[in-house]
Amino acid sequence: MSNVEAKQVFNPNKEFAKTARIKNMCEYQALQDEAMEDYEGFWGRYAKEKLDWIEPFTNVLDESNAPFVKWFDGGKLNVSAQCIDRHLESRKNKAAIIFEGDRGDVQTITYLDLFKNVNKFANLLKEDFEVKKGDRVVIYMPMIPEAAYAMLACARIGAIHSIVFGGFSAEALKDRIEDAQAKVVITADGAFRKEKPYMLKPVVDAAIDDNSPVKKVLVVERNNEEVTWTAGRDYSYNELIKSKSSKCEAEVMDAEDPLFLLYTSGSTGKPKGVQHNSAGYILWAQMTMEWVFDVKENDTYWCTADVGWITGHTYIVYGPLAMGATTVMFEGVITHPDAGRPWKMVEEHKINQFYTAPTAIRVLHKMGEHEPAKYDLSSLKVLGTVGEPIDPPAWKWYYEEVGGSKCAIVDTYWQTETGGHVVSPLPGATPIKPGCATLPLPGIIAEILDPASGEVAEVGETGYMCITRPWPAQIRGVWGDEERYVKSYYGDVKKDGKPVYFTGDGARYDEDGYITITGRTDDVINVSGHRMGTAEVEAAIKKHPNVAEVAVVGKPHELKGEGIFAYIVLKSDDGVADEVEEVKTINKIIQREIGNIALCDDMVFAPGLPKTRSGKIMRRILRSIAKGEAITQDISTLEDPSIVEKINTMVNK
Ligand code: WT7
Repeated sequence: MSNVEAKQVFNPNKEFAKTARIKNMCEYQALQDEAMEDYEGFWGRYAKEKLDWIEPFTNVLDESNAPFVKWFDGGKLNVSAQCIDRHLESRKNKAAIIFEGDRGDVQTITYLDLFKNVNKFANLLKEDFEVKKGDRVVIYMPMIPEAAYAMLACARIGAIHSIVFGGFSAEALKDRIEDAQAKVVITADGAFRKEKPYMLKPVVDAAIDDNSPVKKVLVVERNNEEVTWTAGRDYSYNELIKSKSSKCEAEVMDAEDPLFLLYTSGSTGKPKGVQHNSAGYILWAQMTMEWVFDVKENDTYWCTADVGWITGHTYIVYGPLAMGATTVMFEGVITHPDAGRPWKMVEEHKINQFYTAPTAIRVLHKMGEHEPAKYDLSSLKVLGTVGEPIDPPAWKWYYEEVGGSKCAIVDTYWQTETGGHVVSPLPGATPIKPGCATLPLPGIIAEILDPASGEVAEVGETGYMCITRPWPAQIRGVWGDEERYVKSYYGDVKKDGKPVYFTGDGARYDEDGYITITGRTDDVINVSGHRMGTAEVEAAIKKHPNVAEVAVVGKPHELKGEGIFAYIVLKSDDGVADEVEEVKTINKIIQREIGNIALCDDMVFAPGLPKTRSGKIMRRILRSIAKGEAITQDISTLEDPSIVEKINTMVNK
C-alpha cells in the first residue's frame, strides 16, 4: 500500500539531515533572515567565501541602472579557473567527469586531465582560430566530454559561448549563429544514439553559407563517420589538439564580463539570447549545488540533461565543477537498451544524487515500472526534478521505487534566465509535498504577486511568480536587444511602483506559504521540460505556401507534459486526401525550421480561427477546445462566433 497522497508532507531523512549543509528549517530561516536584513552583506560574504578572486570586488550590487544590474563590480576572476585550477591542489586525481557513452564505454577524467584538456583546447582556439576575449563561439555538440572542454576553454580565454542544442535544425542553428555573430562553430562529426551513429556536422554545413559570420569550424571526431570537409574552414580537433601545450594562462575577467549566451523561446517568433555573466553566475551555480543537492566530497552526482539547455550548463558543467564534485555525463538515451539503463548506471557508478525531468520519470515509470527494483540503488541520497511540475503519480513512483522512500525529492523551480535554482526544497531541511517547489532559496526574494495591485497574492490565489530583488545569477540582458530585455522581464509587474522581474509563470501559495508553480502565463509551452514558443512554431508552419493562418497552443500530454496542438487554415481546402499530404509537408517544414522537438502532436485543419473583431486570435478558446473542455468564455464578441462550434465539433466530435 502506498502512503503518498498529493497533500501529504514528507519530512527530511533524519540521518541525512545530520550532515546536511542546511540541517533544519531554523537554519534555513536564519539564512533567509540574514539576506533580508542585509542583502548586500549576505551576498558579499558568500562571494568572498566561495570564489577565488584575482582582484577583490569593491561593490556588491550596483542597481543604479536597473534593471541592468552589476554584481561584484571591480572583482576579477576566471570561471574556468574557478572550475579547475583551484581544485588541483587537493583534487588533482579526483574524477571531475565520469563519461558514459551510449554503448557503455566509460571514461574517467580527473581534475588534472580536465586541466590539461581544457588548456590545450583553449590554446587551439587562440592559436589556430584566433578566438579572442569577447568573441562569440557557437557550440553544437553531442553529450561528450569535449563539449565541456569547449565551454571551459571559451571561459578560459574570455570568449562567449553559445550552445545550440544538438536537436535543433540547420535553420535554427543559422539564426542563432547570425544573431550572436559567432565567428567559430565547434561541433562533432556526430555521436552514438541507441548504438547507432547519428550526425551533426552535415547540419552545421547546411547552416553556414558564404555570408555567414562563421569563418572556421572545429570538428571533434567522435563516431568517425564520413563527413564533408570544406578546405580552409573545417579542421579536425583530434589532429590540431595533438600539438597544443597543456598550459594556457587564464584570461583575467571582470566580474561582469559575459560568460555565455543561451537562446530560449519567448512569446515572439525570434528566440532570445539570454546573457549570463561571470562572477554572479558561477557563485550561484556553486552555492545551489551545495545547498540543493548537498553533494559531499566523495559523492558522485548525475544530471541527465543535455548541455544544450541551461540545466546542462549549470548542473552538469559549471556548478559541479565549481564545487569540485564528480559529475556524470551520459551520451545515450535513458531508455536504451531498456528502461533500466539509468538504474544500472546508478548502481555501477554509485550515484548519490540523481537529477532529471518529470517527463523522463514518466517515461521510465511507464516503460519500466519494476526496473528500479532490479538494481542496487542504495547509494542514492537526493533525487531532483526540473523543468515542469511533477504530477503525483510520477512523484510517488520516483520517491518510493527509485528513492526507496528515504531520499528527498528536490523539485527545483528555475529557468534559463535565473541561471540557477530559485525556488526549491533543501534536502536536509524542507518538509516536502508532492508537486510543490516549496520555498525560495536563501538570498532569493521570490514572491507571488497580484499583477493588478502588485500586492503579495492571497493563499490559494494564482498570481505571478516574481523575483523582487536582483540576484547574482540573473540574466544580464538579451543579446543585442536592450529593449527586449526590459520589456520581456520588467514590463508586466510592479511592486511599490517599481518594475520587478516576472518569470512568465503563474503560481500560488498554500497555507504553509509553499509555492506551487501553475505554469506559463504567456504563449510559451513546456514540451518535455523544454520551452517552446507557440509563435516560433507558427512562424515555421506559415512558411508553407498553402497555409493561410495558424494558431498553436499547448495541450496536456501524458508523457511530455504538454504537447503541441496546431490549428491550421489552408488557402485551398481540397478535402481530406490532401490534408494527409499537408501534414507531411508541414512536419517537414517544422523539422527544417526548428527541429524534431517542435513537431506537432495534433494538427487540425480548421475552416477559420476564432478572432475578435480587431483580429486578435482567441487562444484561450483554442486551448479549451484542445483540452476538450467546455467553452465558458464569452464568444458573442467574436467576428464569427459560429467558428467555435465548427472547430469544437472537428476536434471533440
Ligand atoms: C520554465 C523554464 C529550469 C531548467 C529547465 C527549463 C518551467 C522549470 C519547474 C518546476 C514547475 C517548472 C517554468 C519555467 N519549470 N522548473 N520545478 N516546476 N515548472 O528551463 O527552458 O528556461 O524553462 O520551465 O515554466 O519558466 P527553461
